[in-house]
Amino acid sequence: MSNVLILGAGGGIARVAIDLFLKETDAQLTLYLRSSRRLIHLESNRVRVIEGDVMDIEKLQEAMNGQDVVYANLAGNLEQMAKTVVQAMDATGVKRLIWISSMGIYDEVPGQKYRSILDPYRDSAAVVEASDVDYTILRPGWFTNKDEIDYETTQKGEPFKGHDVSRKSVADLVVKLAVTPGFEVRRSLGVNKPE
Ligand SMILES: NC(=O)c1ccc[n+]([C@@H]2O[C@H](COP(=O)([O-])OP(=O)(O)OC[C@H]3O[C@@H](n4cnc5c(N)ncnc54)[C@H](OP(=O)(O)O)[C@@H]3O)[C@@H](O)[C@H]2O)c1
Repeated sequence: MSNVLILGAGGGIARVAIDLFLKETDAQLTLYLRSSRRLIHLESNRVRVIEGDVMDIEKLQEAMNGQDVVYANLAGNLEQMAKTVVQAMDATGVKRLIWISSMGIYDEVPGQKYRSILDPYRDSAAVVEASDVDYTILRPGWFTNKDEIDYETTQKGEPFKGHDVSRKSVADLVVKLAVTPGFEVRRSLGVNKPE
């Protein structure tokens, strides 16, 4: 059984992942988010909710105590968030991190150059890669709401394939990473629907 801390737990992918964690694993979840009203419908003895901002290092460290896995599903000032998350993990000795980023941060999408719009994703991935935590960075394509689990992955250094992927597919990969020790550790994975 894993203890999984989900940061930005009210976010789109996180909510699908929470469903899968509860249905398909025995993981204990700590949901960390700015407004707990967003998850008011969730009632499970495997779920604990903490209202907090990821930039609040003291609260974050408190939430990290006893966790096996941190799954960061964040948006916004991602570089500073990555620094805060890594600092809190170092302070509490938590090693495993799943970090949601975006396709395009290494200019790996054939024929596409996403510039400044991806800077927060690029810069935060660089912070995570420079840390000594056991990270897996996910670089999904454009999200769809299709009710399907259908994806493939590419490694850093390989061209990205396809262009979109269902939220449920990304959530499925997050859950597998969280409950499978050693799976894709210190890797950065493109995630797309096979064409
Ligand atoms: N849309 C796409 O096609 C696509 C493709 C690839 C990658 N992505 C990226 O993948 C990531 C995950 O996607 P998503 O759809 O799940 O994102 P999302 O719904 O925007 O969720 C991001 C979450 O981050 C939380 N957050 C922001 N600042 C925070 C803070 N300081 N403290 C705590 N929580 C904070 C937000 O909480 P609040 O509700 O409190 O604001 C929100 O729930 C995003 O960065 C997204 O941009 C998107």
